[in-house]
Amino acid sequence: MEIFRFAIVGAVFSALILLSSSGPCHADSNANTRIQCSGTDDSTTENDFQTNLMNLMDTLVLKGPVSGGFYKAETGKKANKLFGLVQCRGDMSAGNCANCTNDAVAVAKSKCPKSNEVMVWFTWCFLRYSNESFFGIMEQGSVLAITNDTDFEDPHVLSKGLSFMGGLASTAPNQPHMFQKAVLDVGQSGKRYGMAQCSLDISRADCGVCLDAQLTSFRTTIGNKRWWETYGPSCFMWYHDYKFYFNISTSASEGSRRASSYRRVSIGVTIAMLMS
Ligand SMILES: *[C@@H]1O[C@H](CO)[C@@H](O)[C@H](O)[C@H]1NC(C)=O
Ligand SMILES: *[C@@H]1O[C@H](CO)[C@@H](O)[C@H](O)[C@H]1NC(C)=O
Ligand SMILES: *[C@@H]1O[C@H](CO)[C@@H](O)[C@H](O)[C@H]1NC(C)=O
Repeated sequence: MEIFRFAIVGAVFSALILLSSSGPCHADSNANTRIQCSGTDDSTTENDFQTNLMNLMDTLVLKGPVSGGFYKAETGKKANKLFGLVQCRGDMSAGNCANCTNDAVAVAKSKCPKSNEVMVWFTWCFLRYSNESFFGIMEQGSVLAITNDTDFEDPHVLSKGLSFMGGLASTAPNQPHMFQKAVLDVGQSGKRYGMAQCSLDISRADCGVCLDAQLTSFRTTIGNKRWWETYGPSCFMWYHDYKFYFNISTSASEGSRRASSYRRVSIGVTIAMLMS
């Protein structure tokens, strides 16, 4: 295994995540959840690498937002090839997808300028590139769960919440964009909102395996929590007690071009990681 350099970017808490739990109808803001870099480009090909990386980023920024929120591309030749993709959360407008892609590219450039294996997770999008082809390969390692250790789910909602998310894990793979959001009415305890999504380069079958694996791996971390989010290279799941998603979908609308503010991952919030 390579030596990984982690940066949980922004372990600084901002009030936004708290604010976002209080309103019944608001969309969330964008945040850099995590970045993982490894590998260094060979110095003899440094110029090629930078050129290929720039071309790749330009292509992803240009094409991702107008291609249903997903785009994969490769640049360079032979030993200098670079493979990359961007996947926006399924409810993002093209405008928000573009903002997030730009943010992710900026973070990758500033935090890991020389790495040739980079993954950047934002709440609204995921950016990945590598000198090795990874398209179509479902990856179960490098997954992350974010939750609040002490924010427990109402006991009588627990099993409903988990089976709700289990249901999403089994139906999302069959959605046109392997993205599904849903709401669960839990009576006096209000509502719960969930989503499950897979990166569009993997197969529907692998999507199901990926989502199930995330639920299983993090069962003890998230199983009794009122909210949680899981992030992996190939799939993502969210569970909240407020409506975090937008009404629009990437493929449907240009949407608002609001600037994406950086929300930080909070201290006191568990960040559980599983490495392959
Ligand atoms: C990718 O880069 C790493 C060094 O970071 C190198 O060891 C590996 O051989 C490269 N892979 C390819 C396919 O060039
Ligand atoms: C975690 O949840 C507890 C209980 O709801 C709450 O009091 C606390 O403020 C939360 N912590 C953070 C960092 O959100
Ligand atoms: C989203 O859709 C719901 C139900 O159709 C509607 O009540 C709500 O006002 C919409 N929210 C926004 C921000 O458009």
